[in-house]
Amino acid sequence: MAADIIDGKAFAAGLRETVGVHAAAFAERAGRKAGLAVVLVGEDPASQVYVRSKHRATVEAGMESFEHRLPADTAEAALLALVERLNADPAVDGILVQLPLPGHLDEQAVIAAISPDKDVDGFHVTNAGRLAVGQDGFVPCTPLGCMMLLSDRLGDLSGLEAVVIGRSNIVGKPMAQLLLGANATVTIAHSRTKDLPGVVRRADIVVAAVGRAEMVKADWLKPGATVIDVGINRLPPVPGSDKGRLVGDVDFAGARDVAGAITPVPGGVGPMTIAVLLRNTLVAAYRNEGLDLPEGAL
Ligand code: GUN
Repeated sequence: MAADIIDGKAFAAGLRETVGVHAAAFAERAGRKAGLAVVLVGEDPASQVYVRSKHRATVEAGMESFEHRLPADTAEAALLALVERLNADPAVDGILVQLPLPGHLDEQAVIAAISPDKDVDGFHVTNAGRLAVGQDGFVPCTPLGCMMLLSDRLGDLSGLEAVVIGRSNIVGKPMAQLLLGANATVTIAHSRTKDLPGVVRRADIVVAAVGRAEMVKADWLKPGATVIDVGINRLPPVPGSDKGRLVGDVDFAGARDVAGAITPVPGGVGPMTIAVLLRNTLVAAYRNEGLDLPEGAL
């Protein structure tokens, strides 16, 4: 039987709508809109596309978007000074510095300069630590989006075997922490894992976040497994077309005959990231104003 397709695009649209409703309520109570500042250094084409989408989605959700575009040769001191100004600005609830930064800038130093209470990316060590010990903080948008899709599909994850493939600070590690927090039994697999197919075959939940096109094959999967594909990889163009196809880290065509449910690429995890960013920004706004978000709202 073919797997159910997990429609991240529809889920994300629903989340954005809910955020919009609560963003309007926030504006009414606080007398101002929630605000997100996005900082882009340089002209990386993919980053420009992301930043434009974030701007549009923020405005559509009824929030204020502050864009700061800096030249590629910006000195680290100037970038840190901007972050300090945004930390101190009461109209700014969330700060996102688009990564990757040009090579001469120290990403860790820049992330460390962002106030943890405005760190809507959840990249600051304070927020990573809060997640690890189970305190409220900001959780990186992509893994939180994956978790929302998993909870929606499976309900209680207690006791389920979860295998996360990839150990990045942005996806793999926080994903594993979220699954652990939900009482799953969690394995983090990576490039040095022995017998990766054998490890993945144990999993009720597979989260693939390695950045290698179609690496996870159908015969690695336990029948009925729920598969979350975080990968976005562009295949080489076939003759006669100018762009290659976008594929995930999972061989979708094969996997859908074995999995119970699977996210497509595109239209699965991708749309969740911006929707969760808006959610995190609104949560930051409520916290920064000392207001309570309605119970279970987001
Ligand atoms: N670059 C690609 N994805 C992201 C993200 O989620 N946050 C930031 N800050 N940069 C990114």
